[in-house]
Amino acid sequence: MTNKFLMFSIIILISFSLNAQQKTEKNEAEMETKIEKLLSKMTLQEKIGQMNQYNGSWDITGPAPGDDYNKPRYDQLKSGQVGSMLNVISVKSIKEAQKLAVENSRLGIPLIFGHDVIHGYQTMFPIPLGESASWDLDAIEMSARIAGIEAAAAGINWTFAPMVDISRDPRWGRVMEGAGEDPYLGMQIAAARVKGFQGEDLSDENTIAACAKHFAAYGFAEGGRDYNSTDFSETTLRNVILPPFKACVDAGVATFMNGFNDLGGVPATGSKYLQRDILKDEWNFDGFVVSDWGSIGEMVPHGFAKDKKHAAELAANAGSDMDMESIAYVAYLEELVKNGKVKESDIDDAVRRILRIKLQLGLFDDPYKYCNEENEKSKIYTKEHLEIARDVARKSIVLLKNENNILPLDKKAKSIAVIGSLANSKDVPLGNWRSQGKTDSAVSLLEGLQNAVGKDVKIEYAEGYKLTEGKRDFLHELTIIEKDESQFETAIALAKKSEVVVLAIGEDCYQSGEGRSQADIGLAGSQQKLIEAIYEVNKNIVVVLMNGRPLAIPWVAENIPGIIEGWHLGSEAGNAIADVVFGDFNPSGKLPMTFPRDVGQIPLYYNHRNSGRPGPVEMVFWAHYTDQTNEPLYPFGFGLSYASFEYSAIKLAKNEMAMDGELIVSVDLKNTGNVEGTEVVQLYIQDLYGSITRPVKELKGFQKITLDAGQSKTVEFTLSKDDLGFYGLDGKWVVEPGDFKVFVGGNSRDVKGSAFILK
Ligand code: NOJ
Repeated sequence: MTNKFLMFSIIILISFSLNAQQKTEKNEAEMETKIEKLLSKMTLQEKIGQMNQYNGSWDITGPAPGDDYNKPRYDQLKSGQVGSMLNVISVKSIKEAQKLAVENSRLGIPLIFGHDVIHGYQTMFPIPLGESASWDLDAIEMSARIAGIEAAAAGINWTFAPMVDISRDPRWGRVMEGAGEDPYLGMQIAAARVKGFQGEDLSDENTIAACAKHFAAYGFAEGGRDYNSTDFSETTLRNVILPPFKACVDAGVATFMNGFNDLGGVPATGSKYLQRDILKDEWNFDGFVVSDWGSIGEMVPHGFAKDKKHAAELAANAGSDMDMESIAYVAYLEELVKNGKVKESDIDDAVRRILRIKLQLGLFDDPYKYCNEENEKSKIYTKEHLEIARDVARKSIVLLKNENNILPLDKKAKSIAVIGSLANSKDVPLGNWRSQGKTDSAVSLLEGLQNAVGKDVKIEYAEGYKLTEGKRDFLHELTIIEKDESQFETAIALAKKSEVVVLAIGEDCYQSGEGRSQADIGLAGSQQKLIEAIYEVNKNIVVVLMNGRPLAIPWVAENIPGIIEGWHLGSEAGNAIADVVFGDFNPSGKLPMTFPRDVGQIPLYYNHRNSGRPGPVEMVFWAHYTDQTNEPLYPFGFGLSYASFEYSAIKLAKNEMAMDGELIVSVDLKNTGNVEGTEVVQLYIQDLYGSITRPVKELKGFQKITLDAGQSKTVEFTLSKDDLGFYGLDGKWVVEPGDFKVFVGGNSRDVKGSAFILK
């Protein structure tokens, strides 16, 4: 390229981006003018109406607040006392509700319709924790994109996702909804999901607004018990809990949801520090914050508010812009403003934010723009979406053990026994929080395996155990069937006569999710007993785990030769697992959360701090248990492949890095196996000493690398000071010079290390 041409191209590029920037600024200025104009026409009551969100009577995702719950709230819709509805399902119903608001209220302000589209609308993708095991940001963005397309085709404008709560406690049922334990991975996944839901432009008819939740620290519920209190240091808040939320803001997320928990005595919903000081002031977030379901009213049982009126005052002053189902704002805000307890300027600020998102969605141009029956018929649960769901599902599978290469199985094996009621379930793989995923619509494991081998090979099935009983849905608690051995005999006989056993064990999908914390994360019911009995007659076993949380299964890990982590993988689960079982797809997933050996080790996470007595030493005086190792069953980042990978020693460009410089870190990766394979190469650092103690390892980069058998590649990472800093005691970001270690490997435990000095 000649210099002249290069200059010309640069000028064109600069003027193009200036043009685009001027255009955006113009649009934004026009939008702000529209907002002010509308606001100036609104009565106080109408403003408060915008801050009120009601549930539709179509679907319930929280405790019903009163006797009149199911009375359609037509009058309020007509008089402009409602700004948003959740759980109104179908274009027809959404149109009806929208019409009531737009055609009857004085200013005709459109409603925004929200719904929990967590891992798919009708085409179900893996539960978010499972999908995070793919470490594949394109796949994750794509799954959110399709969820967005389907939800928008059904008239929905807004999803209450992604949940970006970091959690270190697998007892907490909602770990299934997040991206696991790591802030760095959590940030990348959070941003990918926001981009997926929101697409390029919120006003496109196939995109929906996203919601970063639950702000903040809900995943740190004490004892892993849902809704429980949280308590931790400011440095943990800043360094571990907040980063994925900040990543959502940077990715342009439209809304936030606060949480049920109190933090150090202040409920998240009433926290001015979180919602105003950090989110709106420090991060300049210009979208709005919705409360969690009834969380404003719950400040009364928390013991933070005297009564619901007081709760409304505290929440509004703290910056909760919209009230989901506490019915506290419509009831009390007007009086609170009149008595001077809440400033009208704060109400105006909340309403501006809500109107801004409605404008960005294009709802003022056409309130029915997402209400297209044709789209609802043609764009949901399509063949193409199912194909993508299968691909994302197989990328989410983690191979945990493959002793003597028991896997992949030969499709022509003489006899394959499939055992375990989970293998025959067309419902469990759909996972909890399944939006409009239809009951019993998934490809079961048994079906998937049979599809893969074709009609000529017979796969025999035995139920083996019964796991749960009771109403299987989002609202009810299941009962575990503790002692039922009625099917053991048949299963054992089948195992005995078969060449290989594929044994599905784990959890019902309604054992995890909201309100489903467990004190025991081992195998429920009679599963353990059955496995041991089968193992007695046939050791050729491949276990397929189906679960919504890390499980403590030391016996299985030690004795069973083949273990596949198959989560709850969505509509195409069975086909995806079969792809891996028979080697049509080479697994590449890596655990996004540590698997403990024992529930007593929790919280167990890789990026812990060292303590003053890391040990081991001969005497007892070091940080350990006397009855259990400190080691996890499977570490964060762990996962095998049918290929095998060899890492060279780490090469550092220099052993020193200037504060404003960069450091290139590289390793040679070789596929030493005999099939093509994909490895997630992970880079960790350790800051050896600082003004606060630092984690023993922190993930700071990863790359998914595919290599042919025998092929090698140099994998390079560039570290800068942004990777080496942290939030200090004063809550400010700091990068401190000193000694660092850097590690590269295929999981957080098995790494190659080197060292450098930051000057
Ligand atoms: C309560 C849950 O905590 C939240 O995540 C969800 O979005 C709302 N219910 C609405 O269903």
